Order: sequence, then C-alpha cells, then structure tokens
Amino acid sequence: MQLSWEWLTTQIADCRACDLCQTRTNIAFGEGNKNADILFIGEGPGREEDLQGRPFVGPAGQLLDKMLAAIGLYREDVYIANIVKCRPPQNRVPLEEEANACITYLRAQTALIKPRIIVCLGATAAKYVYDKDVRITRDRGHWKQKNGVYILPTYHPAALLRDPPKKHEAWADFQQIRKILDELNSEKTLIKQE
Ligand code: URA
Repeated sequence: MQLSWEWLTTQIADCRACDLCQTRTNIAFGEGNKNADILFIGEGPGREEDLQGRPFVGPAGQLLDKMLAAIGLYREDVYIANIVKCRPPQNRVPLEEEANACITYLRAQTALIKPRIIVCLGATAAKYVYDKDVRITRDRGHWKQKNGVYILPTYHPAALLRDPPKKHEAWADFQQIRKILDELNSEKTLIKQE
C-alpha cells in the first residue's frame, strides 16, 4: 500500500490500537501545512484538544501560537502533531505502550511532510522522537541531526505556563529555529539560482 494522507486518515479513523480509545471524545490527528519545513511535536491532546479533535487549541496552544507569531510563523506555515493522538485521562503522561502503539502514525506523518526541522515540545516528544534518556532541562536548545533533519528539543508550552521564568530559554530556542529556517531557505534560493 502506497503511503498517502488518504490512506493514513482511513487507518487512524476509529483507531483501537491502545486503551486511550475508550476514553477519548475525538482523535486529534494533527494539522497544518502538509509541505511544512517545520514539524512541531507535542505530547498528547488535552481537554480542549479532545473536544475539538485538533492539536494545541487549549491554553498551551494559545501560547504556542504567540511564540510562533513572535518568529513570524503562523499555524498555516507549520505542521503540528502529538506523540499520542488521543487524550490520556487527567492529562497524564502517555504510557509507553500507548506511545509505541501511536508512533506509527507520527512516523507516517513525518514521512509524508518531509520536514527539514522537527521541534520536540517537551520531554515526551523528545523521548520518542530521538532519545529515550532525554532530560529536557539539560538538553533543550541543543540541536541534533537525524537522517538530515534538524531536531530541537525545547520546553513544552504547558511547562512555560506553569513556570514562566523558563520562557526566557524557550524564547532563545525559538530564535534559533528562526535562524536555522532562514539558513535553510537561503540555501534553497541559492540552489534555485544555480
Ligand atoms: N499538549 C500537548 O502536548 N498537545 C496538545 O495538543 C495540547 C496540549
């Protein structure tokens, strides 16, 4: 079967791969620009995301929107997804079996989008995207490269809401994102001119 958005949407509809299906209202699949240079990955839907079936639309999402706007980006420019697509009860951290059951969808989304940059919002995203032993306070702001894709771990916006002084470091990370994006875009322009 050829990987496509249509195929993926059919695969995930009414997914029963883990127990989160029993308590979810809606699946928050992910949304944004399917040709985005940047993919933002969070942990899992919260209450508002579960009700609307859209990622990052609650308080953390509103902060994410502001941080994007501060570096000249809008939701339509980027793709936003989560490690798990269904809300864990009481917003607990997803269990390993839930994350492992759901990661196939994220891998398929990543393969279709082909982002140049992946931003891991918080430890859960970083853990399942590139390093099971990540420590976000230690590792945030440090770029990795995997299969030619730049990966940046940073704080989850919900952590910034709980602990506002961290916004200072998150701001530095977002400035880095802007810088790498500009560098990648100028490379593209150079290649076009050649
Ligand atoms: N937190 C997340 O990790 N993802 C969302 O979609 C919303 C809040």
